[in-house]
Amino acid sequence: MSGTAPWWRDAVIYQVYIRSFADGNGDGVGDIAGIRSRLPYLKSLGVDAIWINPWYKSPMADHGYDVADYRAIDPLFGTVAEAEELIAEAHRHGIRVIPDIVPNHTSDQHAWFQAALAAGPGSPERERYVFRPGRGPDGGEPPNDWVSCFGGPAWTRLPDGDWYLHLFAPEQPDLNWEHPEVRAEFESILRFWFSRGVDGFRIDVAHGLVKHPGLPDLPPRQQPAQQGPLATADPSQEGPQQHTDHPHWDRDEVHEIYRAWRKVADEFPGDRCFVAEAWADTPERLAAYVRRDGLHTAFNFDFLMSSWSAKDLRAVIDDSLGMLGAVGAPATWVLSNHDVMRHTSRYGRTTVKRWAVNEPYRPEGPVDLELGTRRARAAALLMLALPGGAYIYQGEELGLPEVEDLPEAVLQDPIWERSGHTDRGRDGCRVPIPWSGRTPPYGFSPEDASAAPWLPQPADWAEHTVEAQTRDETSMLELYRGAVRLRREHPALGDGTLTWLDAAEGVLAFRRDPGFVCVVNLSATAYRLPDHTSILLASGTAQGGLLAPDEAVWLSV
Ligand code: BGC
Repeated sequence: MSGTAPWWRDAVIYQVYIRSFADGNGDGVGDIAGIRSRLPYLKSLGVDAIWINPWYKSPMADHGYDVADYRAIDPLFGTVAEAEELIAEAHRHGIRVIPDIVPNHTSDQHAWFQAALAAGPGSPERERYVFRPGRGPDGGEPPNDWVSCFGGPAWTRLPDGDWYLHLFAPEQPDLNWEHPEVRAEFESILRFWFSRGVDGFRIDVAHGLVKHPGLPDLPPRQQPAQQGPLATADPSQEGPQQHTDHPHWDRDEVHEIYRAWRKVADEFPGDRCFVAEAWADTPERLAAYVRRDGLHTAFNFDFLMSSWSAKDLRAVIDDSLGMLGAVGAPATWVLSNHDVMRHTSRYGRTTVKRWAVNEPYRPEGPVDLELGTRRARAAALLMLALPGGAYIYQGEELGLPEVEDLPEAVLQDPIWERSGHTDRGRDGCRVPIPWSGRTPPYGFSPEDASAAPWLPQPADWAEHTVEAQTRDETSMLELYRGAVRLRREHPALGDGTLTWLDAAEGVLAFRRDPGFVCVVNLSATAYRLPDHTSILLASGTAQGGLLAPDEAVWLSV
């Protein structure tokens, strides 16, 4: 793409789930020192930026998504000085740094919430959160019927009788974004980190900040379904995607907040950017977050939620490019993150239908990891050939599967407890990364570590390590390295447009100019490749001009 367009229009951004990436100090938990030690690896992968999950001071009720102090780094991860050194060092490697900001809620240990508890009902301190009296004769019923994304009611009652809202865990009270101090405080936090050199922010639950002022009950049809990665199934929600007015998700008023944030980002030199975690129920609703005066980009979860079907994927790609293009924003493509089942394990299952925003992302039933891995390889070539930016979740470049047999005793995700032990939660995609060696901790922690990794790694991950896969040209890692390198070098890749080519049913084929074609075979039979001058990259063997089922190729034409 042209050298003048902002970098974020077609960046490859690597997601660092800090607890599980690399442990520098040997306590079994990943940290900033660990990230710094692995910057050469990230450079070798060729990524443009890293997004780091929350690193702020936190009691870790939701592994950092419960922030007690947004201007401090949790001692588990390091210090603000170390964060500044990481930012500078990453920049020297040509890698930008995007932390996560969590504006929907704070930790219950945050100074504001503690002050609200101490000040009592009716106090101005309580107005920065969403406190309400209960319903029923003695106020013993919650103020409305909203449900927590982690299970159970979204309200908790205090001994003084007041109830407070938490769309997630009780340790994560929701802020009141109607309050001017809340708005001013977050703009100040953004400036604090922008002035320390960060290149942007990933905005957590960006679609949740504004609530309907009357806090009405959920419309009957939406109960008890929730929107987002942590939802419970509701068969009544099947069918074409439609937008329905919801009292706490994706309300129009939220965009005013982001117009103000955009102005803050624009105060700083360089191209700072935001990426919204916004679960919107139509591509139009998602595009509303990335209009010219709003945020820069948003995760495209429709791509992640799509089943392994050419028809479904093509529809998602067309809708995304169409809707985002109409507002001048680039698309983003994402296959996995720290909230969903790893895609080798998703694609290894026979889920035929497209997921909906209110379905669980942890499909059950037998898994065929060989199939899932073959598809994951093809999906990587598809994702990295599409116009726009792409996200790689740590470990997907190693082909890691979901760890589905973690012993119950080690599960830490609040979903496990809140669901009454019916949902194992997200720990299975958060297992520490295997770097080297034949046995746990596979180089995740230093040799003299005082503690084992915070989640146990499988005994059979030796073949998944970075060490084992490096220079093995059949490995997932070398496929990603090759694809990211080619994407950087090839003038057709990155930002821009695509043209679909005629292909058999179940086959996706598109051209990007100049001279590039990507073909993905999602059908059950081998497919004859279109005319080409050479094969640039193949997820499988692509022998004899035939593309086997569940394989993809990049062609020079
Ligand atoms: C994050 C989750 C987190 C939740 C609450 C999300 O969408 O990605 O990991 O639990 O927000 O902050």
